[in-house]
Amino acid sequence: ETIRDFRHTLLTWYDQEGRANLPWRLNHEPYRVLVSEIMLQQTQVDTVLPYYERFMQHLPTVQDLARAPEEQVLKLWEGLGYYSRARNLQKAARFVVDELHGNWPESADDLQELPGVGPYTSAAIASISFNEVVPAVDGNAYRVFSRLLKIDADIAQTKSRKIFYDAILPIVDPQRPGDFNQAIMDLGSSYMTAKNPDSIKSPVRQFNAAYRDGVELDFPVKTKK
Ligand code: ADE
Repeated sequence: ETIRDFRHTLLTWYDQEGRANLPWRLNHEPYRVLVSEIMLQQTQVDTVLPYYERFMQHLPTVQDLARAPEEQVLKLWEGLGYYSRARNLQKAARFVVDELHGNWPESADDLQELPGVGPYTSAAIASISFNEVVPAVDGNAYRVFSRLLKIDADIAQTKSRKIFYDAILPIVDPQRPGDFNQAIMDLGSSYMTAKNPDSIKSPVRQFNAAYRDGVELDFPVKTKK
């Protein structure tokens, strides 16, 4: 049925045309995924890439980050901005190393104990590193699923997160939740962008209710607060 078709279409496209060679997709170690997701919170993939590679060369393990001088971490972050992300990232590493003796929390719920890790980042890590079947609901997911399903919940409202989460959860591929979430991110930054979406060429056009009805640009619904 439709959900199975959708997953299959999405993941086939991802396997053939997705950015499988991104460094955080080649190795799903939770430390590497955490660093990538924190960097990607406010910064585009192309900008993040060189920073990510350099960060991993200097601080290849969670223990290295936990023990590094803060100045070194901030220096490696220079140019990415939002330095509170770097400080929280180091606090998270210290928490894993010192409090948890290097044993990573494996569920999205438990990962939210880490400083700087909210509902989106915890779901991304849980799905990518630990295969938990949870949707990673960020701006891409709001845009993609509001259009596919014509969900008109106002994304400026906090309570809409649950509406999207509940709608996406049964669609996440149970065998490949991390790839599913990352395929949605790739769709949201390629064919299903905010402006000038190229839905006619999108691999999931036949599942796109808003495109079918010619109302794509009405989604996601976002009022000014
Ligand atoms: N944006 C946030 N997380 C991402 C990921 N894992 N891959 C690509 N873009 C992202």
